[in-house]
Amino acid sequence: MAHKIAVLPGDGIGPEIIEQAVRVLGALGQSFELQEAKVGGAAFDAFEHPLPPATLALAKNASAVLFGAVGDWKYDSLPREFRPEQAILGLRRELGLFANFRPAILYPELASASSLRPEIVSGLNILILRELTGDIYFGKPRGVRTAEDGPFKGEREGYDTMRYAEPEIRRIAHLGFQAAQKRSKRLCSVDKANVLETSQLWRDIVIEVAREYPDVELSHMYVDNAAMQLVRAPRQFDVIVTGNLFGDILSDEAAMLTGSIGMLPSASLNASGQGLYEPSHGSAPDIAGKGLANPLATILSAAMMLRYSLDMAPLADRIEAAVGKVLAQGLRTADIYEEGTTKVGTAQMGDAVLKALA
Ligand code: IPM
Ligand code: MG
Repeated sequence: MAHKIAVLPGDGIGPEIIEQAVRVLGALGQSFELQEAKVGGAAFDAFEHPLPPATLALAKNASAVLFGAVGDWKYDSLPREFRPEQAILGLRRELGLFANFRPAILYPELASASSLRPEIVSGLNILILRELTGDIYFGKPRGVRTAEDGPFKGEREGYDTMRYAEPEIRRIAHLGFQAAQKRSKRLCSVDKANVLETSQLWRDIVIEVAREYPDVELSHMYVDNAAMQLVRAPRQFDVIVTGNLFGDILSDEAAMLTGSIGMLPSASLNASGQGLYEPSHGSAPDIAGKGLANPLATILSAAMMLRYSLDMAPLADRIEAAVGKVLAQGLRTADIYEEGTTKVGTAQMGDAVLKALA
């Protein structure tokens, strides 16, 4: 039976980068059942909701979701529940996609695009494992109220709740150790245990789970220090496991270190291996529809999808090799262009990957 894949292009450059990834999937000689639906601002425009029930149902019934990007400034003034971002948050919550894998890899051909000097950053290959369905992102209570105590009693205050339940920490910790086992056997858990109760529990549980993985060397780092170490000496890290909020911030930082956020895929998995695959970059509304966007992160996300949700690792290898080949040929979209290389647009980059696959 053909694998069902929900294709959700979204907003901004989403549709044009997804188009290229879909072409690549189509060239693999497999029959996938691709079903497309609107999400984010595009869905709001059509159905007055960023994650309409039909889109959610499609995603739930698929083996995997291939996701473009959501968001546009024009939705900034909408009430929060209608903003495009709620689509991705809703999918994470509703599908239970708690494990977010964000690799940050520096491609040798793109080394000079990094903001760090080559001697500090060359060869960088970090995996950030971000917990994705807990923490202050989803913790209740949250809202705006009148302060009942404290120095600003009687004034309006905003509040959110950071919380993690023990099983939530345990399951992401296990995945962190297992990912480390497949790599350099080093895991760094990032928290803020010097200040936050949630983080202290996080640290205690991670230490407990570590007993089951004696072959993995565990270290702990406060998030402020981790942010600093990432720009000071990023190669000290291999696998980082952290909570939702810290992971959001650190994964952007790590992606930028590679100088090529347009190249980085990501995977968000639930307990049954169902996953959502999306580029690490956003919807870039400023260049939408111009054919300038880099489709490689989305194409590589499709490769991750084949590997993690569809059990087709050899096909993932083929796609990754094809991407390596087009980079070696010197083809670059505007975001990674430098003198001496060949500047191409979104579709041309897709063409080149297809050719390299053949
Ligand atoms: C990300 C994004 C999202 C997040 C936004 C769009 C809600 O920044 O995937 O990192 O904060 O998780
Ligand atoms: Mg983010």
